[in-house]
Amino acid sequence: TPLSHIRNFSIVAHIDHGKSTLADRLIQSTHTVADRDMKEQMLDSMDIERERGITIKAQTVRINYTAKDGEEYVLNLIDTPGHVDFAYEVSRSMRAVEGSLLVVDSTQGVEAQTLANVYHAIEADHEIVPVLNKIDLPAADCDRVAEQIEDVIGIDATEAIQVSAKTGIGIEDTLEAIVTKLPAPTGDRDAPLKAMLVDSWYDSYLGVIVLVRIMDGVLKKGERVRMLSNNSTHHVDRIGVFRPQMTEIDELGPGELGFLTASIKQVRDTRVGDTITHEKKGTTDALPGFKPAQPVVFCGLFPVDAAEFEDLRDSIEKLALNDASFSFEMETSAALGFGFRCGFLGLLHLEVIRDRIEREYNIDLITTAPSVIYDIHMKDGTVTQLHNPADMPDMTLVDHLQEPRIKATILVPDEYLGDVLKLCQDRRGIQEDLTYAGSRAMVVYDLPLNEVVFDFYDRLKSVTKGYASFDYQMIGYRQDALVKMSILVNDEPVDALSTMVHRDRAEARGRAMVEKLKDLIPRHMFKIPIQAAIGGKVIARETLSAMRKDVTAKCYGGDATRKKKLLEKQKAGKKKMRQFGKVDIPQEAFISALKMD
Ligand code: GTP
Repeated sequence: TPLSHIRNFSIVAHIDHGKSTLADRLIQSTHTVADRDMKEQMLDSMDIERERGITIKAQTVRINYTAKDGEEYVLNLIDTPGHVDFAYEVSRSMRAVEGSLLVVDSTQGVEAQTLANVYHAIEADHEIVPVLNKIDLPAADCDRVAEQIEDVIGIDATEAIQVSAKTGIGIEDTLEAIVTKLPAPTGDRDAPLKAMLVDSWYDSYLGVIVLVRIMDGVLKKGERVRMLSNNSTHHVDRIGVFRPQMTEIDELGPGELGFLTASIKQVRDTRVGDTITHEKKGTTDALPGFKPAQPVVFCGLFPVDAAEFEDLRDSIEKLALNDASFSFEMETSAALGFGFRCGFLGLLHLEVIRDRIEREYNIDLITTAPSVIYDIHMKDGTVTQLHNPADMPDMTLVDHLQEPRIKATILVPDEYLGDVLKLCQDRRGIQEDLTYAGSRAMVVYDLPLNEVVFDFYDRLKSVTKGYASFDYQMIGYRQDALVKMSILVNDEPVDALSTMVHRDRAEARGRAMVEKLKDLIPRHMFKIPIQAAIGGKVIARETLSAMRKDVTAKCYGGDATRKKKLLEKQKAGKKKMRQFGKVDIPQEAFISALKMD
């Protein structure tokens, strides 16, 4: 296809504003897929993605469209992940296309996630076409939302397209706008091959599939290619495009999006943002902005049943094959035994992996408190990274600690602003900006990541009845007065409950934790002290009193089946517990104890 007849674009939207529905419509109305094969939400293919209604991997589809000018165009839609955890992937996908449709729900307006993604689009120099969706609904207010797009984002919305992805209104206009308003890609067919590795995933039949955007040159089946980040070379055995099912073709030229397979065994061997060229006579000029994935949130994953450790190892290794941004290493905990310390791009990423282990591999897990990476500046001048509060060295050897900070952008209706400010303040936030867009406030806070990873998002949703939207980016490390707080149950430290806290908040946090644990740990035959301590100093204490009677005592001589039932119930309850010294601690305690309300 000549460059002038190609348009590459992505769709930027907040969750639920209708990105997938619109994509489905574009595919359907151009007969890219026969109607009988049309499944809802063609693009969200992974089960968990579909269930959670989120997109994790970039997906593409190639659409043939005959425009009003009578010419046939190739439209390549790339569907990007919409969640902050995957910001780097989003920024790469955006670099692979020239324009974006900005979809905003005309009954809702601009949300924080729309903003974050539209900034990626602006950074990638996209032409942006605003699309006001859901105009079939009575609550639609296109004028207000268009004005908001201009105020908040600063792009012209006078020609915003009014669409109902549900009923089909405005779909033809959208296709025309893609052709007439978005620029064609540029590229030199005769230059050495330069292709961007946009994404990759594992397919059980074909091995690793690599999504590429050709910048310059031509890639043909059977050629040998080189990845510039690690100089590895590969024989390309397939080339193709997504319609949206994989369709093999012989070559991909400049401006085109497609896939290649090259007997690559692991997704780990492919890096998003890498440059692919020919093995011989290739370019040495790598595409800018490449960076390897960096996990920012760490937690321990332990099997509830210690006998399942090998199964857990197996499942983690399999998942890691397909996810280069997920890291793990073996960890032993005095309290929890053998498990893994795992690194994730963010909390959502953590939850997705944990869900998959539990559901696909059927292993009950204990997840320890998520923690960020701290820089420990030792008195002898060395700096080490702390991934696990349990590994905190003796404080007398430590000069100071630094913690990662984020810039959080929150959009919230006026009436909840006070609650949001209070929440951010409680989490050691520093207010940077507060502006209004209509009846909504946009607040920007500098916050410690450690105060956010745990339950910030849940709290934000609950204090604003779900009306706030939130997004963040990392901004760097800063020194603060942080200490390690240990929890002792029955005088034994439970390392999996250790956390890093700010010194000024340690006491309140410690008290809250021991109170929670007192409720979460069942009574035993003996008295159990539960303490929070910093160094050797106890800062909070509760005592769980002893059980008065054997639960089955009153059944003696009586109803034997009732007694049996009770014992069975106890046994089932035990399965979800772990023993620490002489004390059973239920699995949910590890997470619940840390939630602050
Ligand atoms: P994520 O995949 O979670 O990012 O969401 P999305 O932006 O892809 O939204 P999706 O297409 O799943 O749509 C969200 C909800 O809005 C679904 O229940 C759709 O049926 C509905 N919806 C989408 N477009 C329209 C529309 O034009 N009108 C109406 N009434 N509902 C719509």
